[in-house]
Amino acid sequence: MMRKLIFVLACLVALAAGAWLSSWVQQRNASPDIQGMVLSEPRAFESFRMTDDAGAAFTEADFQGHWSLLYFGFTYCPDICPMTLAVFSQLKNMLSDTGRANTRFYLVSVDPARDTPERLHDYVRFFDPEFRGLTGPVRELDKLTAAAGALYVIPGDTDREDYLVDHSSTVTLVNPEGKVHAVFTAPHTAEQLARDLTQVVARW
Ligand code: NI
Repeated sequence: MMRKLIFVLACLVALAAGAWLSSWVQQRNASPDIQGMVLSEPRAFESFRMTDDAGAAFTEADFQGHWSLLYFGFTYCPDICPMTLAVFSQLKNMLSDTGRANTRFYLVSVDPARDTPERLHDYVRFFDPEFRGLTGPVRELDKLTAAAGALYVIPGDTDREDYLVDHSSTVTLVNPEGKVHAVFTAPHTAEQLARDLTQVVARW
């Protein structure tokens, strides 16, 4: 109960900060009209070392050279995560050939204890053979969530087989310099993401 309350409060604080920031950003930058916000100053990741779903090391340098859409979730999530990955799959199919070639899709696990690279691999590929998964120790994961503006709470009683991890539902856009560029807020649809992504990329 307490944990839920803390998470809700954290989300409210994040939302308030987001609203404040987005009004500020739009005044400064005439930011495009998207469901979310473009950062006035793209944000670099602190150096991190995760593992991708093929078992290879993955660092902030691996985000360079293409656009990346990041979703922070976990494979045991009963509803929102599979829905978002299904939206990603539709979105990918809506992009132009160039857009598809220049965009990568990632599920970043907020449940590293259960989401092994193998498990992530099977999971993301169920939605699309080119989707990627990232997992790693909490201290590394936290470097991604901090820059991406994502939140999660792993419960204390992870001995239970069916524990759930509360997590935010934003989609984070990383630019080809490997910096956090924009955040799209839920609820997500493929149409909304396609429109917003196209606008943001066109202005880069
Ligand atoms: Ni989820």
